[in-house]
Amino acid sequence: MSQTLLGKVALVTGGGRGLGRAHALALARAGARVVVNDLGGSDRGEGADPDMAAAVAREIQEVGGNAIASNADVSDWDDAGRAVRLALDTFGRLDIIVNNAGISRFAPIGAMSREDWTLTIGVNLTGTAAVTHWAAAHWIEVGPESGRAIINTSSPAGTNPLPGSPAYCASKAGVAALTIASAAELAPLGVRVNAIAPMGRTRLTDAVPFVAELMKAPATGFDRAAPDCVSPVVVYLASPACRFTGRVFGIEGDDLFVFDGWSARHRFNNAGTAWDQATLAERLEAIDLQDLGWGIAPATHMVMPNPSDATLKTLATIAEER
Ligand SMILES: NC(=O)c1ccc[n+]([C@@H]2O[C@H](COP(=O)([O-])OP(=O)(O)OC[C@H]3O[C@@H](n4cnc5c(N)ncnc54)[C@H](O)[C@@H]3O)[C@@H](O)[C@H]2O)c1
Repeated sequence: MSQTLLGKVALVTGGGRGLGRAHALALARAGARVVVNDLGGSDRGEGADPDMAAAVAREIQEVGGNAIASNADVSDWDDAGRAVRLALDTFGRLDIIVNNAGISRFAPIGAMSREDWTLTIGVNLTGTAAVTHWAAAHWIEVGPESGRAIINTSSPAGTNPLPGSPAYCASKAGVAALTIASAAELAPLGVRVNAIAPMGRTRLTDAVPFVAELMKAPATGFDRAAPDCVSPVVVYLASPACRFTGRVFGIEGDDLFVFDGWSARHRFNNAGTAWDQATLAERLEAIDLQDLGWGIAPATHMVMPNPSDATLKTLATIAEER
């Protein structure tokens, strides 16, 4: 790989395992010095293990890269600032942020606890906002410089929300909105802000039996669920070759989906008069009800991301077998 990120400093949150680990290694291979941040808790956001981040920092050092570990809890506003400060104190600059730390607590809306909601929003959305805030504050202080990038982690569950985990879906849709808003705000400082909506085999996907089944590594041939399929997109979004900002990129195996933000496909105007219920009912007759995709696989509706042909085929097969 060419060292397109030589001289850059990257902070990867949740870089101790899964997709974040793959991103940290890929950024280091591309020449970046890396702060590997990870709290090291469970997939549901409980506990902590300081060795997770340290192990990946060591992996990078062992192949000649430059990395340091951070155990900051990004869901804590001030602790997120500590991760940013560590990058600046250690390497003297900060160019790339990969907001990847995330947790998942499956609980339908009627069963969801306050803790399910606050922890999920806390790590996935507040964690992304807090790290972005501290980096932006630093960039404002030192002034504009081109070549800065933030890569947030949304999800197919944020772009195409489905039943089963509304807090997770809301947190990831929030990340997509935050991405667009931050992109507009930070452009004058030379920062591009994009998000990925990834699919990759990790403990998060292993925790959901039918998803784990979908993402099993094949005995031979292309392993489309390997986390390593996601990281090249992160490196591209971090690199000077990327000319996008404020966009969400779905990535699964060899399939890449580029989202256009929210778009209203239908527009109506009531000719200078406020709407009333009867007119609304009449005019909105023209719109088809949305197909939420349940027809494809009623029992497996949770994986309806930016579905690739291969995923759709597998879902259909699983549905037929049930
Ligand atoms: N794996 C997928 O298919 C998939 C799909 C969509 C979105 N995502 C998102 O990708 C990101 C990475 O997920 P993954 O699948 O690699 O999961 P993972 O559980 O393997 O990794 C997440 C990492 O984040 C760390 N983390 C959690 N809370 C933290 C906190 N408060 N501060 C610092 N670190 C914290 C965890 O310790 C863990 O190492 C998450 O944001 C997840 O929601 C993953």
